[in-house]
Amino acid sequence: MTLKTHPQAHQLIEREDHYLATAARINYFDLVIDHAHDAVLTDVDGNEYLDLLASASAINVGHTNAKVVKAIQDQAAKLIHYTPAYFHHQPEQQLAERLAKLAPGDDNEVAFGNSGSDANDAIIKFARAYTGRQYIVSYMDAYHGSTYGSMTLSGVSLNMDRKMGPLLPGVVHVPYPDMYRTLPNETEHDVAQRYFAAFKAPFESYLPADEVACVLIEPIQGDGGIRKAPAEYMQLVYDFCHEHGILFAVDEVNQGMGRTGKMWSIERFQNIRPDLMSVGKSLASGLPLSAVIGRREVMESLGAPAHVFTTAANPICCAASLATLDVLEEEQLLHKSLTDGAYAQQRFLALQAKHPKIGQVRMYGLDGGIELVKDPVTKVADPEFASDVIYEAFRHGVVMITLKGNILRFQPPLVITRAQLDFAFNVLDDAMTAAENGQVQRPDGKIGW
Ligand SMILES: Cc1ncc(COP(=O)(O)O)c(C=O)c1O
Repeated sequence: MTLKTHPQAHQLIEREDHYLATAARINYFDLVIDHAHDAVLTDVDGNEYLDLLASASAINVGHTNAKVVKAIQDQAAKLIHYTPAYFHHQPEQQLAERLAKLAPGDDNEVAFGNSGSDANDAIIKFARAYTGRQYIVSYMDAYHGSTYGSMTLSGVSLNMDRKMGPLLPGVVHVPYPDMYRTLPNETEHDVAQRYFAAFKAPFESYLPADEVACVLIEPIQGDGGIRKAPAEYMQLVYDFCHEHGILFAVDEVNQGMGRTGKMWSIERFQNIRPDLMSVGKSLASGLPLSAVIGRREVMESLGAPAHVFTTAANPICCAASLATLDVLEEEQLLHKSLTDGAYAQQRFLALQAKHPKIGQVRMYGLDGGIELVKDPVTKVADPEFASDVIYEAFRHGVVMITLKGNILRFQPPLVITRAQLDFAFNVLDDAMTAAENGQVQRPDGKIGW
C-alpha cells in the first residue's frame, strides 16, 4: 500500500504553529482533516484514514451521519440560538425530558452546559450545595476536563496543575483500581479490598466523612487507560457513600452514549444509581453540548443563576443530540458495540499471541485499552514502542492515539464496518512487526501525552 504524504498539511501546520498556543494541543501526527464520513477521515492532501478515535469518543454515531446532518441543517434554518438563561425553545425542552428519562433512576432533572468540563464543575456545585459539605473525592489518573474545577478533579498529567495553582480547595484524590499490575496471586476480590482500603485511608486520617460532599468516579476510566473498576470495589464505595451521606457521582463524558455497549457505562454494574452524572462529547455528536443529570432533590438545591451559560443548550446542538439518540436506537449501535467489540477483542488477543509487547487487552464493547509493555513479566510501560506503532499505523492509513504514553486507545465510531475493522487489525499487525524490528522512522520529539 502507498504511504501517505502530507505536503499541504505540513505547510498549513507550520503556519498554524505560529499562532496556536502549545497548551492547546497534544502533539501526534500532521493530520489536517478536510472532511469525514462514518469511520473515514480525509485530509487536505486527499489521504483517507480509518478513524479509531472518533474525535475522542465524541462521534459515536459516525462522522456526518445523515440524520444528524439533516437535524443540524433544519434547525440552523429555523433558530440558531436563543439563550436558555432567560427563555425556552423546543429542542432544549425535548432533550431535557429525554435525558432525564434516559439516565438511571426515575426522577431526574437536567442542567445544560457547553463542555464535559463544565458538566463536572456542575457536579461540584450541586454536590456541595445539596450536602452543605466542601470535600470532593476523585481519582488519580482521571481526566475530568480543563476548567479550574474539572482540572482539579483530574489526576492524569502534571501539566494540568503545573504553574496554574492554587487549584480548587477541598479535592482529594484516591487511586483507581488497577487490575493489570496486581500483587502476586491476587484475585479480583483481593484487588477490590486493597483499593477500598486505599480509598478509606484518607477518611481514617484527615478527611472527616461528614464533610465530604461527593465521590466522582468514571465507571470505566477513559484517559486513565480504558480500565474498569472491579464490581465489588464499586459496590463498596457506593455503600460507603450511602452510609456517610456522601453523593455518588459518575463521569460518563467519555464512556457514555453507547460507547461500551450500554447507554451509560455505570450500567455495566448492577444496582448502582448515581446521584449525579456528567455527559458530553457524543451527546451532540461533537457539537458543544454537555449536561449534568441528577436526582431532582439534588438538582433543586441551587437557585438561578448558579448554573447558566449564554450558549448552553444551543438549539442546533440539542437537535443534533436528539438525532444522535435516534440513530443510536434505530441502528442498534449499543448491540453493535457489544458484538463488534467482542470481534475486536478476539482480533487483539490474536495479535497478543503474536506480539509479546501486548501486555493486556481490555475491551468493553468497541472501547479498548491495549497496554504495550517492554515485556509481559515486568509489565514496564513501553511508550517508545507504542509511539512507533501508532506512527506506523498512521502512515498506513489508521488513526489511533495512546493513553498515558503506552496504551493504545481503541474507540472507533460505533458504525465502523467489519471490513474496516479487518483493515485496521492488518495495519496494526504490520505496524507492530515494523516496530519490533526497529523499522519505524518517526520524526524527532515526543508524541502523545
Ligand atoms: C471522562 C471525561 N470527562 C470530562 C472530559 C472533558 O470534556 P470536555 O473536553 O468536553 O470539556 C473528558 C474529555 O476528554 C473526559 O474524557
